[in-house]
Amino acid sequence: MKEFYAIDFGTSNSLLAHIDASGVSKLIPMDHDGDVMLKSLIFTPTLREWYFGKHAIEMREENDGEGRFFRSIKKFLAESNFKGTEVHGQMMPIEKLVSTFLKHMKKQADKATGKDIKNVVLGRPARYSLDDEKDKLAEQRMMAAAKLAGFDEILFCPEPLAAGLSIAKSETEELVMIADFGGGTSDFTILKVHNRNYSTDDVMGMSGVFLAGDALDGRMMKEFISPHFGSRIEYRIPFNDGLLKFPKKLMNILCSPAHISVLRERETWDFLKEIQTYSVNEEYKRQLSQLFILVEEQLAYPIYREIEKTKIDLSSTPVGHFQFLHPGIKIHEDISEGDYKESISEVVAKIKDSMLESFTQNDLEPKDIQRVYITGGTGQSPYIQEMLRNVFGANKISGGEVFQSVISGLAEFAKLQQL
Ligand SMILES: Nc1ncnc2c1ncn2[C@@H]1O[C@H](COP(=O)(O)OP(=O)(O)OP(=O)(O)O)[C@@H](O)[C@H]1O
Ligand SMILES: [Mg+2]
Repeated sequence: MKEFYAIDFGTSNSLLAHIDASGVSKLIPMDHDGDVMLKSLIFTPTLREWYFGKHAIEMREENDGEGRFFRSIKKFLAESNFKGTEVHGQMMPIEKLVSTFLKHMKKQADKATGKDIKNVVLGRPARYSLDDEKDKLAEQRMMAAAKLAGFDEILFCPEPLAAGLSIAKSETEELVMIADFGGGTSDFTILKVHNRNYSTDDVMGMSGVFLAGDALDGRMMKEFISPHFGSRIEYRIPFNDGLLKFPKKLMNILCSPAHISVLRERETWDFLKEIQTYSVNEEYKRQLSQLFILVEEQLAYPIYREIEKTKIDLSSTPVGHFQFLHPGIKIHEDISEGDYKESISEVVAKIKDSMLESFTQNDLEPKDIQRVYITGGTGQSPYIQEMLRNVFGANKISGGEVFQSVISGLAEFAKLQQL
């Protein structure tokens, strides 16, 4: 068997395993502190300097935010109108941006193995996009990024299938729903689990949706935090009687962890300045001043990090305390579990709908599922778990490895393909 790497390139976290010629797989430390999990973050203060994972966060702080910082870049793969972004005066296509990250992973791995391994199995969400064209585009871009990173034999495996392959084989055949709730996507596979080798016939259904941890963070921003940045302001343009509100399009950008840096664009900036002038009271003007500081000092990441922390606290405590203090910005917001639950109910309902779609590809029903296997960071949310209990019954729910199911299953997949 050839040696290869398996890469789980996640919206929030990425991992790499080395599978040697005898099929033994081992995770390789990816971050500069020796952590096997690499946060999917990039920071570049100058064209020659690139930092990844926790190192990116540290260097961003050391450089006072001067430079470009990227998060959730996986999300852009399926956006056909996102051709690239300007980095240090040069246009950088999305493939190139993703390749810097994959190249870093390959370099760390090659250093550890002492080899230049060019075979890779890459995970991919069940759907990058519901639109077939965009889904295809995302995979092509990922393929191009892997080539630029130095790989030449590249194989894709759906992430929920990989999560399924990672679970223990079962002596008696059982139908398992594998539900992977990550940062960017929620992915589902109905898999026939047994103790023989797997074939495609064992995959009974698969579905996925671009709603997961980032979307929950976006909901918290929208309901509880964005009003501190002027999202509920009203303004009146001279010689025009009507009261106007904060534009919906800008609201969507503010509430998307992946897109918020777009607010820096000149046109948007000028527009915001204008609505501040015409805001109908001083409190609204103050809120917009907080927004300017957020944009100018590139505070989107630290603010979303605080949102994420509050969200994770709400997985185990009845009240989440959001606090953000920075010169010119002062926000305290206590969020009760009841209010939080209500704010995310629509997202959770859409995730459920996507999961139920996996039953439209067969004549199965939720009652036929014998076990539900939850994985991924967002799977730790009690609200997601409650939704699963309601659909399948509490006794069927089992948890597994939160962050490493996909990577260990990718290694299994590659072995099955005799790569
Ligand atoms: N205790 C928790 N409660 C709720 N959410 C959590 C918890 N711990 C982590 N998360 C969320 O889990 C997400 C990251 O999960 P994971 O590492 O599985 O995603 P990923 O693999 O990077 O993303 P994807 O598979 O969608 O590309 C983040 O959105 C994070 O906020
Ligand atoms: Mg994942």
